[in-house]
Amino acid sequence: MNSFIYDIPVKVYFGENQLCHLSEELSKYGKRVLLTYGGGSIKKNGLYDKVVQEIKKAGLQIFELSGIEPNPRIESVREGTKICKEEKIDVLLAVGGGSTLDATKYMAAGACVNFDPWKFLSEWAPIEKALPVITILTLSATGSEMDAGGVISNLETQEKIGRMEYPLLPKVSFLDPTNTYTVSPYQTACGAADMISHILEVYFNMEQDFYMLDCFMEGMLKTIIKYTPIAMKEPQNYEARANLMWTSSWAINGFINGGKRQAWSCHPMEHELSAIYDITHGLGLAILTPRWMEYCLNETTVSKYVQFGTNVFGIDSSLEPIAIAKKSIEMLSTFLFKTLKLKSTFTEVGIEKKNFCSMAKKACKNSILQGFQPLSQQDIEKIFEMCL
Ligand code: NZQ
Ligand code: ZN
Repeated sequence: MNSFIYDIPVKVYFGENQLCHLSEELSKYGKRVLLTYGGGSIKKNGLYDKVVQEIKKAGLQIFELSGIEPNPRIESVREGTKICKEEKIDVLLAVGGGSTLDATKYMAAGACVNFDPWKFLSEWAPIEKALPVITILTLSATGSEMDAGGVISNLETQEKIGRMEYPLLPKVSFLDPTNTYTVSPYQTACGAADMISHILEVYFNMEQDFYMLDCFMEGMLKTIIKYTPIAMKEPQNYEARANLMWTSSWAINGFINGGKRQAWSCHPMEHELSAIYDITHGLGLAILTPRWMEYCLNETTVSKYVQFGTNVFGIDSSLEPIAIAKKSIEMLSTFLFKTLKLKSTFTEVGIEKKNFCSMAKKACKNSILQGFQPLSQQDIEKIFEMCL
């Protein structure tokens, strides 16, 4: 077991009616607030009005940036950075899903430097500080509300790049499950697939396990499997939305990593899909994950699948290990594609074979993707082919 540092200093207000603390939290960081949001869901469901009312009550000055797209673009980040600098913004308030939160984090960092914020991603320019960011989460999926990450797309270069840096951590996040009542069944399902992937990317790892963390991950997986279908059928089921929301945060806030080397596989592959085809992140992961599991299954790795299958899906432990492993992949596929009704192949979502070579090359950075199992460009191309 490796040693590790646990340091997640995000203050969380969880539950209904916590918005009354918003102005008090914003006021700690200054008077000039940049409110950022996406394509308008928060206007339709009334959250925008509530937020603006709270900010005004505190006598703070509001500036706005709307229209942040899913798979947020670098152009939005540039625009936000410009507003931060020109209007001398003190604090940013991101209201939305992972896309709005991610873009806002880079605006906050961009405001503190004199170069184009794309350099944070293309050249790994140092992220030493950022303006304070407060978030109000409206979609349970990415964990951006409690992690130091953010993923930005550049359509011009067909790149989607993510990075985790401590200064990108939000200062405060408001997690009110009722703010996710209007999330569509499709986005709820994609969010679930994303959370599952965040967990499996850590769970399926060849390093020594940390029993307590494995149990925690299995518990979160069971939570997603139990509550996602309920939230899809009954969008206003508080218990379901609350369980999914808190799982979203804990699936990626660093807690489950323990001291394990971070060796993600499906996310680097998925980012290449979104970069070219602009598909929903969770959908891409749903299609890739069972195929990646199938590809990595061998005599050395089978025990992890047995643990997953018996503890998460309750598969009979007296079966042959390989049979349990295959059944566990089948049950995960059934959950993603039948229960959550997500499309199950690249063909259905318009992803063609012609780009596999370049996407695979980029996913492994022209080297080896050191994930659960090391994957070469050829391995990744084979996994892509299994997804057709
Ligand atoms: O833009 P609006 O109008 O708000 O609509 C959004 C968008 O169309 C809608 N939505 C959000 N909350 C809603 C709602 N609709 C109705 N009611 C609500 N309450 O849902 C759509 C998708 O929103 P988006 O923010 O794109 O979804 P998500 O939260 O899944 O974020 C995806 C992005 O996060 C990145 C992904 O790559 C992708 O770019 N990720 C970020 C990570 C991180 N920060 O650590 C890790 C993840 O692995 C992921 O890569
Ligand atoms: Zn993800």
